[in-house]
Amino acid sequence: MRFFTSLNPKSSNSPASPQAVAGAGKPKFSPENLTTLPQVVAMEKMELKDDKNKEVEEEQVVNPWEVSAKDGGKIDYDKLIDKFGCQRLDESLIQRVQRLTNRAPHVFLRRGVFFAHRDFNDILDSYEKGEKFYLYTGRGPSSEALHLGHLIPFMFTKYLQDAFKVPLVIQLTDDEKCMWKNLSVEESQRLARENAKDIIACGFDISKTFIFSDFDYVGGAFYKNMVRVAKCVTYNKVVGIFGFTGEDHIGKVSFPPVQAVPSFPSSFPHIFGNENIRCLIPCAIDQDPYFRMTRDVAPRIGYHKPALIESSFFPALQPHYHSNSVMKGARLSPLAIRRGEGSSPISGEARRLQNGVPWRRKGIRRRDAPPLLLGFRDCCSFVETSSRIAIAIAAPSQGENGKMSASDPNSAIYVTDSAKDIKNKINRYAFSGGRDSIELHRKYGANLEVDIPFKYLGFFLDDDAELEHIREEYGSGRMLTGEIKKRLVEVLTDLVERHRRARAAVTDEMVDAFMAVRPLPNMFK
Ligand code: TYM
Ligand code: TRP
Repeated sequence: MRFFTSLNPKSSNSPASPQAVAGAGKPKFSPENLTTLPQVVAMEKMELKDDKNKEVEEEQVVNPWEVSAKDGGKIDYDKLIDKFGCQRLDESLIQRVQRLTNRAPHVFLRRGVFFAHRDFNDILDSYEKGEKFYLYTGRGPSSEALHLGHLIPFMFTKYLQDAFKVPLVIQLTDDEKCMWKNLSVEESQRLARENAKDIIACGFDISKTFIFSDFDYVGGAFYKNMVRVAKCVTYNKVVGIFGFTGEDHIGKVSFPPVQAVPSFPSSFPHIFGNENIRCLIPCAIDQDPYFRMTRDVAPRIGYHKPALIESSFFPALQPHYHSNSVMKGARLSPLAIRRGEGSSPISGEARRLQNGVPWRRKGIRRRDAPPLLLGFRDCCSFVETSSRIAIAIAAPSQGENGKMSASDPNSAIYVTDSAKDIKNKINRYAFSGGRDSIELHRKYGANLEVDIPFKYLGFFLDDDAELEHIREEYGSGRMLTGEIKKRLVEVLTDLVERHRRARAAVTDEMVDAFMAVRPLPNMFK
């Protein structure tokens, strides 16, 4: 019991001090210095070398269904590039885009939000020679409303469509979400249509854009391509790429070809006829596994490999720790680990234990923390095991862990949030790199590495000079947390307000028009 305290649910009033939790002889935790926490976890790891749970995977996990950093740290995007075998999107490519399109590169390119690619240079080569390509992206309709993270690939795709003057197909994988999220067929279809409105509100050109739902469109030429792909992919291969197990239903195993084949123009004969043109896919890097598979198969069935341009993740408002590190810290039994995959482990017992102190599933804000946890801001969770309730201490995840996800409403900002919601969420939940007191803040400046408001401005504040100004003023402590949050609230409110107006103007007839199976005669103009 080095870094966690096991509490008997019945004796709630004997909390140990943070120092006792951290253990004697460990480096003293100092609240101003967040960087000591990863060290605590590193030591924990060393001590656990001979622990039974050590076989628990330590790698960061990035796939279409899970994004989690190693030991609660940041996602290591350089490592991802190596591991996935994609290429870094460097300055020279960005300048090439600028030259070819005659317009300033999108802010997501300038700031490195889109940071990786596969064969994007080939697309540019052929574009330069006057050859054509088309864009393909998609959305798995799992929630009523999109969050800001979802907007990123669509905003960027809209820019690419305008800049290169190319057609676009958008896949709504209602079948995928029906199978993964346990939604009914009808509910997934309904969500697909709702999401289509948000996507249309991003401003796509109807004369160049085809939106389709799998439930409606799959069949004919599309289905023939699915079968061609499926014949090339063994069960072992799909398990290797996606990690399916014998417990997964066969719908999951058979899904990847559905997401693969929009990469081939012959899946859309009404648009492309027999033309074998190239495809470019903008998406966040979590979707890469699908397209590794697709690229592997493409040449074998006579198609070009689709090219990709991939973004990092728009982070959640609060850091959340990597559950593996929590599990290691808490020495959970394999049974508890399995339970941890599912719903919240926090029992009514734990709630009573904390005397009504509000908690959240993924960490506790400093001001809400019970005495035991003071000093460990944003870095703890209650974990129930079969025999006891433990408080596990995990690394705070540098504020940048993982991606914004739709499952925790307080960790995400939705395009449907009101100005008041946005203000509230930013002020209450956005993880701050500001120091604990004004004096310390003026002295040390904000820790920009972990500061969520600063990161968010990096995505959505267009003005490079203003961002630079904030970096200097806030980083040196002249600007306070409240001020940067205020600016962020303005920027996001403006964005969401514009989106809301655009979405309100999208009628059911427009959705039908975008989703109609039809030729796109002016698609390259
Ligand atoms: P979905 O609905 O999970 O996500 C839609 C798109 O948003 C990206 N994304 C994010 N980008 C930045 N920050 C985040 N926090 C964040 N969360 C999600 C996703 O990478 C994706 O680009 N299976 C897909 C649907 C799909 C698709 C495609 C996506 C079908 N075909 C082709 C991209 C390209 C899905 O469920 O996406
Ligand atoms: N895996 C859960 C999540 O991230 C959290 C969780 C549930 C957990 N049970 C756990 C973490 C047990 C550690 C241990 O949503």
